Amino acid sequence: MQRRALALIALQLLLCAAPGDLWCYDSQDPKCGPGHWKDFVKACGGDSQSPINIDRHRVQRDRNLGDIVFEGYDQAPPGKWRLMNDGHTVMMSLEGESGSEHINITSGGLLDRYRALQFHFHWGNLKENGSEHTIDGQQFPMELHLVHMNYKYKTISEAKGHPNGLAVLGFFFKVSDADNSNYNTIVAGLKNVSREGDFVDLASTFCLNNLLPSVAQLSKYYRYKGSLTTPDCAEIVVWTVFEEPIPISQSQLNTFVNTVHFPATGTSLKKMTNNFRPPQPLKNRKVYASKDATISHSAKPSASLLLFPLLLALLIDQFSGPS
Ligand SMILES: *[C@@H]1O[C@H](CO)[C@@H](O)[C@H](O)[C@H]1NC(C)=O
Ligand SMILES: *[C@@H]1O[C@H](CO)[C@@H](O)[C@H](O)[C@H]1NC(C)=O
Ligand SMILES: *[C@@H]1O[C@H](CO)[C@@H](O)[C@H](O)[C@H]1NC(C)=O
Ligand SMILES: [Zn+2]
Repeated sequence: MQRRALALIALQLLLCAAPGDLWCYDSQDPKCGPGHWKDFVKACGGDSQSPINIDRHRVQRDRNLGDIVFEGYDQAPPGKWRLMNDGHTVMMSLEGESGSEHINITSGGLLDRYRALQFHFHWGNLKENGSEHTIDGQQFPMELHLVHMNYKYKTISEAKGHPNGLAVLGFFFKVSDADNSNYNTIVAGLKNVSREGDFVDLASTFCLNNLLPSVAQLSKYYRYKGSLTTPDCAEIVVWTVFEEPIPISQSQLNTFVNTVHFPATGTSLKKMTNNFRPPQPLKNRKVYASKDATISHSAKPSASLLLFPLLLALLIDQFSGPS
């Protein structure tokens, strides 16, 4: 095992490649799936990893977590939007030509302004959900990540040196009866990014707002400090996970599952499915609920508290005898 890890590291050094070239999801090959990432990328075994399960009994209300300010989310960008298959997900790059106006987020407890870099998805298969974060142990069918970089830093590698380098917004999906027409352009573009390295310039651009739940729902979110959910698993992300899911039809979801493929290995081409990392230990971290987010007030009653009335009832039953 140790030797294999060393060999992998040696190989990476040799090829001068990012660790990204060796990791995979269990659906591709369990030998390089999420459980093994820490064997060749130490950070993936760190104390502040993402995703996590958000336990609503344990989150802490923070009334300073008010509305996030979305700048440019309400304008269709002038340039083309390029959708691509990077071998792990389907990603839309949001970085226009240099000089063009950036899409930003700020406020909502974020201490800095962050500009949008890209968004991408994590999904399951035809039978199983595929979100990365879970809420009270429940996984959702799909999750959208909008990745933003702190304006303080000029490059990703500079941002990687700082725990507030990136701000990622996570949105769950839920299955709706009708198609979500705001996703038509993306869903239609999937057939053009079927293979790793494929890209397509979308026929039309649209406001990012259109991809999200209604504005009134965006004040409900959970906040915590975590990491990228793929190697190198850098612990540089201020996470915001929204409570309100985005509706999408089963047939739109199925198009993700059925159309896009992982990188070919030899002659075999596998569909891109279950491209999510499971929840990681929370360890010493806290998850904060925004001023409007749902929390479960009742602390989980301990087992003994639940058992006591039951035992009492049994005792009373014993002593009262047959009636
Ligand atoms: C995003 O922030 C930059 C830097 O502060 C600013 O120049 C730009 O106008 C902002 N974008 C929008 C859409 O407000
Ligand atoms: C899958 O997601 C749906 C919500 O869309 C939920 O009702 C169901 O419980 C989830 N399944 C699991 C195993 O979490
Ligand atoms: C996308 O794929 C379809 C069907 O394969 C093809 O007809 C269309 O020209 C492609 N679009 C672009 C922009 O490549
Ligand atoms: Zn992601």
